[in-house]
Amino acid sequence: MGRRRHQLPGLCRRSRTAEVSPSVPAGKPVIAIDGPAGAGKSTLAASLASHLGLERLDTGSMYRAVAYAALRDGVDPGDASTVTELAHRVGIQVGPAVHVDGVDVTGELRGPAVTRVVSEVAANPGVRRELVRRQREWVATHGGGVIEGRDIGTVVLPDADLKVYVTASEAERARRRAVEAEATAHGHDAVAVASDLARRDRLDSTRDSSPLAVAEGAVVVDSTDRSVEEIVEEVLKRL
Ligand code: DC
Repeated sequence: MGRRRHQLPGLCRRSRTAEVSPSVPAGKPVIAIDGPAGAGKSTLAASLASHLGLERLDTGSMYRAVAYAALRDGVDPGDASTVTELAHRVGIQVGPAVHVDGVDVTGELRGPAVTRVVSEVAANPGVRRELVRRQREWVATHGGGVIEGRDIGTVVLPDADLKVYVTASEAERARRRAVEAEATAHGHDAVAVASDLARRDRLDSTRDSSPLAVAEGAVVVDSTDRSVEEIVEEVLKRL
């Protein structure tokens, strides 16, 4: 687990003492959460953020926002230089709702059109450079927080106070994504969800630029048969 200070201008870090309780941080810790789709990252990130009174950043939504903007503008998601330019100029605000150039696109971001092309957009090194820059800026501005994605512990914030890699069985991850698709009224059948998940896992783990990987020093958590409370308890002990 990284205990060094992350080299970011303006990033205010707490001074650590053995007496500081993890639930009452003296300053804001930086917590990096990575893992494949459907592993339970968002649930864990939300729960940790609420326990620790931190804000959180879902970086997957940022890649989805660029994919959305490419589709909106009729740009070929495989046209690396045009999509990179787009990534530099698009306005993205990620919170409970996601705004792209001021428009609330939360509903569209998890839909099939964006989901189909987002891995290709996320494999574009120019897009990654720009979004990594914005993610580090977010941490500097907020002074810490819970940041989730695929490369947070490996690339974006390798010196995070706590790095967690969450995973779950393929069947469980597909089941969760199918439930989520139902809930968001993007109705896919379970077989289509499972095969799309496998396709995206393959793309995310085998791309040249920052592939999904377990960061050095990360706590690895399998969420298949565990409650979020159990996992939060385990993870907080490491902080
Ligand atoms: O977590 P998600 O399904 O919303 O992520 C959308 C895509 O973005 C997925 O293909 C993985 C990719 N991604 C990434 O490459 N790096 C991140 N830090 C976050 C997401």
